[in-house]
Amino acid sequence: MKEKIEKLKKQLIDALKTAKSDEIVRNLEVDFLGRKGKFNDIMKSLKDMSDDMKKTVGRLANEVKTELEVAVQKKYAQLEAEELGQIADTEWLDVTVPGIRPIVGHRHLISKFIDDIELIFGKMGFSVADGPDIETEHYCFNQLNIPPDHPARDMQDTFWVKNLDKTVLRTQTSPVQVRFMEAHEPPVRIISLGKTFRKDNDATHSPMFHQCEGLMVGENVSMANLKAILTHFMQQVFEDSSIKTRFRISFFPFVEPGLEVDCTCPICHGEGKIENVPCKLCKQTGWLEIGGAGMVHPKVLENVGYDSKKYTGFAFGMGLDRMVMIKYRINHLRLFFENDLRFIEQF
Ligand code: PHE
Repeated sequence: MKEKIEKLKKQLIDALKTAKSDEIVRNLEVDFLGRKGKFNDIMKSLKDMSDDMKKTVGRLANEVKTELEVAVQKKYAQLEAEELGQIADTEWLDVTVPGIRPIVGHRHLISKFIDDIELIFGKMGFSVADGPDIETEHYCFNQLNIPPDHPARDMQDTFWVKNLDKTVLRTQTSPVQVRFMEAHEPPVRIISLGKTFRKDNDATHSPMFHQCEGLMVGENVSMANLKAILTHFMQQVFEDSSIKTRFRISFFPFVEPGLEVDCTCPICHGEGKIENVPCKLCKQTGWLEIGGAGMVHPKVLENVGYDSKKYTGFAFGMGLDRMVMIKYRINHLRLFFENDLRFIEQF
């Protein structure tokens, strides 16, 4: 009987050695170790043996069976490892090879410029206020002293929103002045930056553009403060401390007096020419128009419930796109909005 057990053992071990698949191993397992397998036949035959034989043969049979069960499991593991090994061979991965850097984008030049401006004004004590891109006629015009029949509305070729009564894509950031003053008592010192919309569309105008609005209201706020703040701002934003500003008289219904703000051309430094070559940017004048400004009209102050005898203030509005074009020597406005990576990646 003992020889029979050893023989079975050898048979199974040999068969396992050459087995090439799970299926073969499974068949061997059933054949030798299964309920109706060869080992169970031996177990069954134990009952006809003497007690002594039962003990020794039984123990041996159990030991060998356990040993063979382990051998079968090992074989399964070996086959599985081989299979994985084959995959690893074909899809070989070297973890020490340097990776491929994913393309990481960055913010648009105009968004970065907006941050720069917020920082410059932030250092002068201005906080940032926000308003909606879609405005009511009330805030965009009426409260700013531009009544419905006023010709100043024609200057701002407005997009009216269909089906929404008296609603426009804001033509300027000035309504934020009104919204902020309505919600806060003086003193006020804010800027507001964002998108504005007008029906213009040519080499220097696009239907969507960006403005920076500024507002400072308090006791004894004067035009001298306005000039100091705008001059400092221009010098900071163009990184040129030689820049000067000048005011020309102009008209905006929500300020009195109204001003046009110019600064010396950052390209030719106010000379109108560079080494005797006429400066194209400022058309040889040495000055660039940067925005509008003025002392807040008493009517606007009263519209929001401020005492116009006690408080004075100034406001200004600047076009950002043009300033970015000047600073980074960009020759066409459309480049900002075309999403051409060859352009965008330069900044
Ligand atoms: N909102 C004016 C414009 O868009 C600019 C401006 C702002 C003028 C504030 C005066 C004061 O043209």
